[in-house]
Order: sequence, then structure tokens, then C-alpha cells
Amino acid sequence: MNTLSQLPAWRALWSHFTRARDWHMRSLFGTDPDRAQRYWIEQSGLTLDYSKNRITDQTLTLLIELAREAGVPEQINAMFRGDKINTTEHRAALHIALRNRSNTPIVVDGEDVMPKVNDVLARMSRFAHAVRSGEWLGYTNQPITDIVNIGIGGSDLGPLMVCQALKPFAHPRLSMHFISNVDSSQLKEVLRRVHSETTLFVVESKTFTTHETLTNAHTAREWFLHRAQDEAAVARHFVAVSTNQQAVADFGIDPANMFEFWDWVGGRFSLWSAIGLPIMLSLGEKNFLAMLDGAHSMDNHFRTAPLEANMPVLLALLGIWYINFFGAGSHVITPYDQYLHRFPAFIQQLDMESNGKQTARDGQPVDYETAPIIWGDTGINGQHAFFQLLHQGTHISPIDFIASLDRRGSLPGHHEILLANMFAQGEAFMRGKGAEEVRDELEDQGLSAEELEALLPFKVFGGNRPSNTLLLSRLDPFCLGALIALYEHKIFVQGTIWNINSFDQWGVELGKRLAKTIFDELSGTTGIFIHDASTSRLIQLYHASNRTASAR
Ligand code: F6P
Repeated sequence: MNTLSQLPAWRALWSHFTRARDWHMRSLFGTDPDRAQRYWIEQSGLTLDYSKNRITDQTLTLLIELAREAGVPEQINAMFRGDKINTTEHRAALHIALRNRSNTPIVVDGEDVMPKVNDVLARMSRFAHAVRSGEWLGYTNQPITDIVNIGIGGSDLGPLMVCQALKPFAHPRLSMHFISNVDSSQLKEVLRRVHSETTLFVVESKTFTTHETLTNAHTAREWFLHRAQDEAAVARHFVAVSTNQQAVADFGIDPANMFEFWDWVGGRFSLWSAIGLPIMLSLGEKNFLAMLDGAHSMDNHFRTAPLEANMPVLLALLGIWYINFFGAGSHVITPYDQYLHRFPAFIQQLDMESNGKQTARDGQPVDYETAPIIWGDTGINGQHAFFQLLHQGTHISPIDFIASLDRRGSLPGHHEILLANMFAQGEAFMRGKGAEEVRDELEDQGLSAEELEALLPFKVFGGNRPSNTLLLSRLDPFCLGALIALYEHKIFVQGTIWNINSFDQWGVELGKRLAKTIFDELSGTTGIFIHDASTSRLIQLYHASNRTASAR
């Protein structure tokens, strides 16, 4: 198999880059004002303006050729066909089946997965309806008022992000709480606010072996039993979502109260599965299905659109252009919408756990960069915090601006300020501010020649900082579904080009194993084994300070 760096398009891009690195977007817009029309795509309720990038038609032609040579069309087909593209775990990656609203058969190991996908969806709907309608009663016959989701990583970030993003669609009686951290302060704070008679715990874990989740779930169960004083009451207040029926039963949750999913759903791609149960509880079946519809619409686009008009492919290629050629080590996600405040964290796991890898599919080390560091926060807050570095720092960090066009629901005047800022930032990042402009401005302010020359270098903005602008026609379940699917596919395309498996996560294993050994050492159930000098000293310090604390 050709490695990426030997592909003809890769080499052609390097030669193209020797010219492209000196272009300034201000000149590109000057000579080609139509680029705003050409580098613009609308799909599934989303509009992407990608004109503020350091590209020309030729750049795009070469990048598309790279996608072709790297086998992107074949890999897209392989994913939709249900091939086991997660090669190190011998699994398909079929989150697209979970939102396959057309219901066309998708076969894994000779079995069409759609009937079981639809069965679980129907069970989720029945359960969500019972809880939402008040038909599902707690052990003192009161309806549920609080849902506590216990899970971490993909079993937390997706449901949490969506429930926050779509709060205006939420059931008014149900308060949603999310516990992921094993630091007991998070659980303590929630348990202080809820009542055992009216709280439903949803324990979510693909493996049902995750130490943090099981510890939190056990503590919640003890808290509950201490109040209910009746083991039989657990069935009305604890449900589980997992692929591991035995472990759920061992924990003490009746498998009748378990919602299943399958090993071909990756944790970070699982919000479309039963892991989305908290979403359905909060938003209801109709909105959950609308979210699946939005994702399915993006799936259909991704599967069928030509590469040059394919939104996820274009976003992926722009990322490759900056990461592999300009050396951009990070990528910023900045929603101009408070409801999307957890979106950067969600994309961080999706991208960094998928493509943060250095071994190619054939087991050889890669000789090029892979996933960037994904970071970000809501844009308005970012402007008053980290945007300084983005404007004038030494790093190039491409930015995705995300906002909703629809101002309904916003208080008068607020949405315009929000979007004015977002558009202004995109413009400023692109244009910058040259020495002549600064000079004119300072002269107008009446600065002396000496003062002016001293201040001038600090006020110059180089600009030429790339960004994408993504506008949702409305922040609703359909558009959010499409937005999430867009990023999932972008990440998959990049993984394909880098020739890595985007669907495993071996990198998180080592820390988990070491933590288990050290946990036993900290709890005193074993002696201290040999660690490096630093780790041993830290363990001893922990013991010493707890001895001192308990002697006080
Ligand atoms: O440790 C990483 C990880 O395996 C993620 O991939 C996953 O989303 C998370 O832990 C939670 O895993 P589980 O759902 O099995 O508890």
C-alpha cells in the first residue's frame, strides 16, 4: 500500500505549498471576490462559508485528488456497507445504522442490524414516554422529576452536550444532571439537590467496567437504598445502558431495565444509540427522531455527494491542508451560542480520541502529523480570553465559528451583537490590520511621530488566519444532528487520509491499568510496588498526609 507521503497528490501539494504559504487572503479576496460564492455550501440546514481559507481552486483540486488517491470514496462505501473498518478490534463502525431512517438493510456478520436498532429505539420511546407522561412512578408513587446520568467520555459528553444545546425543547418537569467525575464532589452536589422518591438514575457504560462510572453508580445506589430501605425499589429508579448484560445484572440492575447497544458503536459515536436515552427523556421521542433525521440527511449527503461538493470532505481537507502543510498543531471550535457551550468538549473527544494516533493501519509509524489539539469555548467569552493569541500569537490555529441564524427565543438586540462579533472576528482574522492602516489611525488620534512609531508594531495584525463559518438555520434537533454527523464524517475522512484507524482508542489503556495498581496501593489493600522515584514519593506523600490528617 502506498504511504501517504508517496502519493502523487501529496507531492504535488507540497510543491503547490511553496507558493501558497506566501499568499495573503486579503489579496485572494481582492483578485477573486467570487470566492465567497464558490467556497460556500449548504446542506441539511447548515451553511458552510469556507472562503476565508488560504486556498485557491488549484489547492482544492489537489486536495480532492489527495482524497481520491488516499481511498476516501472506497472507505466511505466500506463504512456504509458495514465492513469491519475498525481493524484492530475487528468491528464495523456503524453509528450511521443508528440513524438510518430510510431503514435500508445494513448487514454485519450476515445479519441485518436494522431490526434490532429499531427494537431498541421503540423500547427507549416507550420508556421515555412513560417517564415524561408521569405514568412511570417512583417507590412512593410520585412521578420522576430528576434524571441523573452516570457515565464518562462518550457515555457522558454526547448526551450532556445535546441536552444543553436543546434545552428550549426540554420537558419542563424533568431536570437533567450529569455525573462523570469520580471526584465525589460532583455526585455529592447533585444528591444534595434531588429526592430519592422522584429521581431516576441512568447508568451508562458501553463496557460496564469503567471504574469511575461503577464507583459513582454504587455510591448512588447506596444513597438511594439508605432512603428507600427496599431493594425492590431499585427497579423503579435505576436503568442501565450498555453492551454488557452480565455486568449490568451483576451490578444489580434487572436486565429488563437495560437498554442495549452493540460493539459496532464506538463510545464517542454512541449518542444516537440507547446512550441517547437521557436525550430522549429530556426532549421526547419526536425531537430525538428529528436529531436522527438531521444526521441521516448529512449521512446521505456524505455518501452520495461528489468529493468537491461534499461538506464533511471539504472540512476534512481544509484541516489536512493546515495540519500537514502549514504545521498547524491545533484547531479551535468556537460556538457563538451559549447553548452550544459543551460542543467544543464533545468534539475534543470525538476528534482527539479518534485520530490522536501515530501508527498507520499497517502497523508502521506515520511520518506526518495526525490529529490536531482541539480546543475552544463559546466565542464571545473566548474573545475576552484566548483570542489575543489567535490574532497575534505565533501559532496558526484554524477556527470553526458556529452560530444559529435564527434569532427567535433571544432577547431583543442580543443575537445581533452576538453575530456581529462573530462576523467581525472572521473578517479581522482574515484581513488583519496593516502598518499603513495603523499609522492612519494613530495619526488621527494625534500621536506624535515618536509615539506613533513606538506603538505601531504592537497594533499591527498580520491577519491571514484561516476560519470556517458554520451557520445553522436554527439550533434545533435536526440541525444539531446534521452538525454532529458533519464532524463525525470530517474526522473519519481525515483518519482515512492519514491511514489510521479512527475507531479504536488503545492510548487510554495504559493509564487505566496503572491507576488500578496505584488505587490498591493508596487504599492500603496492597504494599507499594516498584514505581519510578517520583510516583513512589507521591504515593508516600499521600499516605503521610492522610496519617497526619486522621491523627488530628
Ligand atoms: O477511556 C476511554 C473510553 O473508553 C471512551 O472511549 C469511552 O467513551 C469512555 O471511556 C467510557 O467508556 P464506557 O462507556 O465503556 O464506560
